[in-house]
Amino acid sequence: MKRRLKVAILGATGMAGVEYPDLMENHPWFKVSAVCGRRSVGKTYGEAVRQLKKVPESVAELEVVEADPKKVDADLVFSALPSESAREIEAAFADSGFPVISEASAYRMEQDVPLMVPEINADHLSLVEKQKSKRGGGFIVTTPNCTTVGLVMPLKPIMDAYGLEKVVVATYQAVTGAGWPGVPSYSIIGNVIPYIKNEEPKVEAETRKILGSLGGDGVNPANIQVEASCARVPTIDGHLEAIYLETSRPVDPEEAAGVLEEFRGPPQELKLPTAPEKPIIVAREEDRPQPRFDVMAGSVPGMSAVVGRIRGGGSPYVLKMFSLSHNRIRGAAGIAVLTAELLYAQGYLEV
Ligand SMILES: NC(=O)c1ccc[n+]([C@@H]2O[C@H](COP(=O)([O-])OP(=O)(O)OC[C@H]3O[C@@H](n4cnc5c(N)ncnc54)[C@H](OP(=O)(O)O)[C@@H]3O)[C@@H](O)[C@H]2O)c1
Repeated sequence: MKRRLKVAILGATGMAGVEYPDLMENHPWFKVSAVCGRRSVGKTYGEAVRQLKKVPESVAELEVVEADPKKVDADLVFSALPSESAREIEAAFADSGFPVISEASAYRMEQDVPLMVPEINADHLSLVEKQKSKRGGGFIVTTPNCTTVGLVMPLKPIMDAYGLEKVVVATYQAVTGAGWPGVPSYSIIGNVIPYIKNEEPKVEAETRKILGSLGGDGVNPANIQVEASCARVPTIDGHLEAIYLETSRPVDPEEAAGVLEEFRGPPQELKLPTAPEKPIIVAREEDRPQPRFDVMAGSVPGMSAVVGRIRGGGSPYVLKMFSLSHNRIRGAAGIAVLTAELLYAQGYLEV
């Protein structure tokens, strides 16, 4: 039997990082061996994240260490670092030969860096070969902004079935998306903030890259107009998105609901451990999806996008819907673990 790969988590004590250990508890291929932070260095992991989550016993007594490649014993590194520190620290790990899977924005738009949603663009992973020779065998693979993930999941099957010309999205984003301690309570309780720094350009550019095709030196972005308006709302987990689409061919809403429901990708075909049976769940009730009831829906809780209120518009080329996805699981730790599983299944990780 192959041994389980040792995994280090950078930014393990943050709002996104704290979600990783649960996903790797009893994992067939991966096992957490190191947790890294900055202010929490020297504390036990359980103590460092006491106000965020009760973590599994298997990691609670690990000592939080510096995010330094020389201080970490691992085969694989997940990074949930803030983007400012990610740029330098992730490069240091990759240049020391580590495979790095990052949910930070620092490298997402680089030519030779894949920006992964494993159900959508598994073929983009081959870009790591371009990095390996430059980086002493290591590489960086990124996952998208949590809002982008909940958008591109329903876009991909619709694009394949009907073509896509234009996407307009308005978001209702949960407070955990802002990290810890995040938005001041006075600013968000009983309120909505129609501004999230740098969010809209990220959603627009990342969507085009994920839906783009491999070619030349990297990914040719999809030629789709994407317009985003992002707001922070007082929910805890789960970004809700109101999506308006213009397609290239006429679209029937009921048929489109079937297309979304049937959507599957390589993680399902390969039966990856963190792959939900249905990447997209279609909610048929008139008032769903709702973060309170639907954010943990599906066979792997937090890993499915729940889409509802699928309806037409003022032309046969218009489709409207709401999409909900868990920002810290499908939008962060879960998608990173799923990406690592795809790398493993495709032979990119040395065992
Ligand atoms: N929150 C989400 O829903 C979400 C979703 C998708 C992507 N992301 C991305 O994930 C990353 C982390 O976000 P977050 O919300 O988890 O933020 P956060 O709650 O502020 O956590 C930041 C983490 O990074 C560590 N850290 C900060 N500076 C460091 C440094 N110089 N060296 C080593 N560790 C350092 C912190 O350690 P200490 O606590 O020990 O200081 C903490 O563990 C960001 O890039 C964000 O864009 C977040």
